[in-house]
Amino acid sequence: MYILFEGIDTCGKSTQIDLIAQKYPEIIITHEPGGTPFGKKAREILLADTLASKRAELLLFLADRAEHYQEIIAPNKEKVIISDRGFLSGIGYALANGDFDFDELVSLNRFALEGHFPDKIVLFLTNMETLTQRTSEKELDGIELRGLEYLITVQNKMQESLQKLGINYLEVDATDSIENIHQKILSYLEL
Ligand code: TMP
Repeated sequence: MYILFEGIDTCGKSTQIDLIAQKYPEIIITHEPGGTPFGKKAREILLADTLASKRAELLLFLADRAEHYQEIIAPNKEKVIISDRGFLSGIGYALANGDFDFDELVSLNRFALEGHFPDKIVLFLTNMETLTQRTSEKELDGIELRGLEYLITVQNKMQESLQKLGINYLEVDATDSIENIHQKILSYLEL
């Protein structure tokens, strides 16, 4: 089972993934961008946010996704895999970046994933107040420096996209307590 944890920065994805990893050490934990040796190099370029072309940026995220699919997801498809981000970030950030067509983005991601979309998605939803507070407590990368309004737009795009995709999903309130969120995720995933 291939599961994505999705949501904008500081929504608590990594905290929840760590809790599950402690409880279920047999689960494969991975992330995008950067879950493969090529991905690490791509991640460095992408997070520096120095590409002039948003199409080049999109294609580099997709290249990372294709390599990650072939190297990590496909060989482990009999196991439970949890990825910190994946194609829903791919679509949400691209839609917030400008003039991309939703159906075209779905096709490009289908190509990168060899047709294998995740089985389940957990989408964390935060709000401007919590985002403002949490981002003020960390050092921001190039993409986060695009601003909080941008991140909220990304979140809206991810949520709208998920409603159209027909993939099984759970929305969680990122402002809820760590333990409550953990319990909700456990009962949804039925690990
Ligand atoms: P993170 O791994 O620290 O969450 O950083 C990854 C950054 O890359 C984050 O700002 C979201 C962004 N991103 C995209 O813009 N497109 C994508 O397809 C993915 C996977 C991530």
